[in-house]
Amino acid sequence: MSIVNGNGIFDAARSGHYAVGAFNTNNLEWTRAILAAAQETNTPILIQTSMGAAKYMGGYELCLNLVQQTVKSMGITVPVIMHLDHGNYEAAKECIEVGYTSVMFDGHDLPFEENLEKTKEIVALAHAKGITVEAEVGSIGGEEDGIIGAGELADVEEAKQIAATGVDYLACGIGNIHGKYPANWTGLNFDRLKELAEVIETPLVLHGGSGIPKEQIQKAIAMGVSKVNVNTECQLAFAEATRKYIEAGKDEEGKGYDPRKLLAPGTQAITDVVKERIDWFGTPEA
Ligand code: G3H
Ligand code: ZN
Repeated sequence: MSIVNGNGIFDAARSGHYAVGAFNTNNLEWTRAILAAAQETNTPILIQTSMGAAKYMGGYELCLNLVQQTVKSMGITVPVIMHLDHGNYEAAKECIEVGYTSVMFDGHDLPFEENLEKTKEIVALAHAKGITVEAEVGSIGGEEDGIIGAGELADVEEAKQIAATGVDYLACGIGNIHGKYPANWTGLNFDRLKELAEVIETPLVLHGGSGIPKEQIQKAIAMGVSKVNVNTECQLAFAEATRKYIEAGKDEEGKGYDPRKLLAPGTQAITDVVKERIDWFGTPEA
């Protein structure tokens, strides 16, 4: 199957009380690992690139081609959505131009009226080409690839206005944080999530999916979260498996230094994390 947009997939997730996972890619191994997990579980998936990761890999067109060609060469048959994660206005426009099937315009750092106006513009441009759109209200705490948020809770009235622009999924600040959660984190704000979910039918997005206890993630999904973003946990799993391989001296045994061998345990570790999260999210088979 070629890559698809999010039409239908997230509305079905919201009404079916499950979520579809969105996983960040950084390179070929990451891409293969995420796609393998989706194929092995026979479930739809989002592969997303942050602006920083796309720059690292050589640009949005390269990222799109990498995912398209990997889907083809691996014989992937499940729906794969190619998504821009936390894009600014320029990045969202570029990815619409290049042919991503889904984009996030993250205007959380703009004055609200500007976030609203630019979201409207991106929705019009994207929908004209059959591309689905995610926007953000409030902010995600912490830092991801240079995107910094103070963690403000989403304002319900503002969220209603952004949802009314016709966005296909809406990221809301509900106490979630990018990266590792601090020991004194008090958990997701379910009161605010309830207020949002009561008045907004748009599928909601939970960012900062790494390190949130399974019970909280599943409660959030039951309440209206239909897309969960995970990045850090894949990075940690890759680093740990690679470290173990090197600390065990395996890179010095025979041709253990061959990158195809050296990177294999970390790649498998990403697949394992993604498969476990797909199970947590209750994503049904495609
Ligand atoms: O946009 C990406 C995510 O929100 C990932 O957050 O690195 O905390 O899992 P995470
Ligand atoms: Zn995020």
